[in-house]
Amino acid sequence: MAKILIIGGGAMGAAFTIPCLENNNNVIITEPYSNKFIKDLESRNKFHSGLKIKLPKKLKFQKFDEKLFRENYQLIVIALSLPGVDLIVKKLANFKNTIPILILTKGLKYNKKRRKILTIPEIINENYKKRNISVLKGPCLAKELAQKNKTSVVVANKNIKIAKKIGKIISTNYYSVEYSNDILGVEICSAIKNIYAMIIGSGQNMNSSSGLFQKSMNEMKFLIKYFKGNESTILGLVGVGDLYVSAVGGRNSKMGYYLGKGYTFKSAKKKFMPKDTVEGEQLAREIAPYILKNINKKKIPLMHHLLKTILNNKKI
Ligand SMILES: NC(=O)c1ccc[n+]([C@@H]2O[C@H](COP(=O)([O-])OP(=O)(O)OC[C@H]3O[C@@H](n4cnc5c(N)ncnc54)[C@H](O)[C@@H]3O)[C@@H](O)[C@H]2O)c1
Repeated sequence: MAKILIIGGGAMGAAFTIPCLENNNNVIITEPYSNKFIKDLESRNKFHSGLKIKLPKKLKFQKFDEKLFRENYQLIVIALSLPGVDLIVKKLANFKNTIPILILTKGLKYNKKRRKILTIPEIINENYKKRNISVLKGPCLAKELAQKNKTSVVVANKNIKIAKKIGKIISTNYYSVEYSNDILGVEICSAIKNIYAMIIGSGQNMNSSSGLFQKSMNEMKFLIKYFKGNESTILGLVGVGDLYVSAVGGRNSKMGYYLGKGYTFKSAKKKFMPKDTVEGEQLAREIAPYILKNINKKKIPLMHHLLKTILNNKKI
């Protein structure tokens, strides 16, 4: 039995508690940002408004507080969306320990000073290199995991033994874990698939979307190699697997559909998706300054085109 702290009570953080509790771990969840999720997790019946299910009674909720980081855990899980990562980086700066950290968040950040695109482990490691960081990524809709549907994901760490140790703590018969030592490839793939899901969604029929799917795979492969990840990662769960689930359903491909219909990003957002976070758009704005300047348009024409469509609020 492991003591696990999950930071982030949104859909994914809450869904992740289910396999962890199933394995009889001692699971504590905390939420730093959203009053709605705090209310859900504090409530007696633990009904989660994002997942539309009651979470297990044995899940413990604690208020987000610096003191939380002083306790001893076998695993700290970060399940916030990308803007929340900065907050955790600041909090962790005060705590120099080697408790294993597992990152569920998908995304990349552009560091203007260093003129470099950084993965989340790279950002967290910036102030303390000894941290023990793994990432968990793959095709996983939080609602489906919460209903214990068969789900397969990848845990990556340069040291595969650490990844396997984490897999043992969290995997169940419906949540199976594969392993990789290609943290860079896994991080790049799982972030940029949100942009490619928009591109695939912009096809207005199955034939055109399938063509875009294949071309997206080629561009993703190029980008993984460019950022020094392992090309073969594109063929695994975090590559083609996650691209599939994001392209057939989800908010990014839905936005892509409206772009393909001829709406600009802003008009589509306002008219059809006013309350939705479109992670692909956030990432597009984050990485565009680097990608448009440093990577030849001929190598990744779809990515270039989508970034300009969003940045300039143009029709696709
Ligand atoms: N690894 C996986 O298997 C997997 C699967 C699905 C989603 N995800 C990723 O998990 C992350 C969360 O997704 P979700 O579906 O739970 O989203 P959600 O919208 O349900 O929850 C978002 C979470 O981030 C927090 N947050 C948002 N903005 C914040 C800010 N400015 N500061 C601090 N915290 C903030 C929210 O309070 C909440 O805890 C995303 O990056 C998503 O891509 C990972």
